[in-house]
Amino acid sequence: MNLDARVKAVEDAFVQRFHARPEFIVRAPGRVNLIGEHTDYNEGFVFPTAIDREMIVAASPNGTNSISAYSLDYDETTDFLLDKIEKSAINSWADYLRGVLNILQKRNFKLRGFNAVLAGNVPQGAGLSSSAAYEVAIVTLCNVMNNLSISGKDSALIAQQAENEFVGMQCGIMDQFISALGQEDAALMIDCRSLDYRAVPLNLSEHGCSIVITNSGVRRGLVDSEYNARRAECSEGVKLLSKLTGRALNSLRDIGLDEFEKHTGSLPNKVVQRCRHVISENERVLAAVSALESSDLATFGRLMNESHDSLRGDFEVSCRELDVLVRLSQGHPGVMGARMTGAGFGGCTVAIMSNDAIDGFRKTVIPEYEKQTGKKAEVYVCASTAGAQLLNSVTA
Ligand code: GLA
Repeated sequence: MNLDARVKAVEDAFVQRFHARPEFIVRAPGRVNLIGEHTDYNEGFVFPTAIDREMIVAASPNGTNSISAYSLDYDETTDFLLDKIEKSAINSWADYLRGVLNILQKRNFKLRGFNAVLAGNVPQGAGLSSSAAYEVAIVTLCNVMNNLSISGKDSALIAQQAENEFVGMQCGIMDQFISALGQEDAALMIDCRSLDYRAVPLNLSEHGCSIVITNSGVRRGLVDSEYNARRAECSEGVKLLSKLTGRALNSLRDIGLDEFEKHTGSLPNKVVQRCRHVISENERVLAAVSALESSDLATFGRLMNESHDSLRGDFEVSCRELDVLVRLSQGHPGVMGARMTGAGFGGCTVAIMSNDAIDGFRKTVIPEYEKQTGKKAEVYVCASTAGAQLLNSVTA
């Protein structure tokens, strides 16, 4: 179903449930990260693009202090009062909604109660940021409904705070940032220390290429505990390197690869591996962005491959299935580069490949992957889209 048809389905469900047309319809996209993994919470660089998979919310103020929201995906309703927001249950879809409203109110924004219908098509647990899309959609909705004048950056920060404090996942800023601020046919080079960013045109069609996402069919497991463990190991690295260099480092952003290599002999092995990934990945992002700006897709692809090696070998967040899929993808003619994308431990790979190669990819790489792993993979040729937006004009 295309976006217009999905918006119409959400709008129809709203009319059926609440007997009037919704005053506001917003969308917020998922994302795919092209390069720069596990760097955001280390104050480093990332290079994601927003994709044509999104959360859509249709809503109208209801003149009360309460929220009534219906999820089309779960066929479930949640009702609660704005002044009594509690976490509902572990992993309930409603917690993202509750979390964002809770944080907005903590930040002293005055909210009106509303009725809403929600529907998303970002695959869940696939590393494409379905939760960030959901959170950013709710911030965007509240922003327009209450005239709050929240900037795109603040929308991202509020959504991240909801994920960190209410949902309880200690994610960095990348996913919410790209969902809020993405631009069509561009990836954002985000400096996660200053939150400065720059849109870099992808121009892939000029090269006859596309972004191809493949869902490995392995639902991300272990992600919370292992993610937090990696964060802790990186912080440990910062502490130890501060001592060794005699400089008070704020983050792994404050040390280059050459200086770091001088101290590896005095650091625990795991810490060396984690730090080496982050420090080298930052350098790869800078090199990849400049390759893209010089239309050098071959170098961009090579850096994607190197990023995967580093995530597998040093950061240890890949898994057997992702490695098989990446190896087969990299070996397919017409593929510039391929890597796992997102937090890891399952989820998706991302590849840049020539349009001519896509058919063969589906016909040879996917069956071979399924043969080697017993898992069903899903291929998705994605478009790079704008970030969160009010869509009323689509249906007006
Ligand atoms: C998850 C987190 C992001 C980022 C990536 C890894 O998607 O939500 O903040 O850390 O993992 O790059």
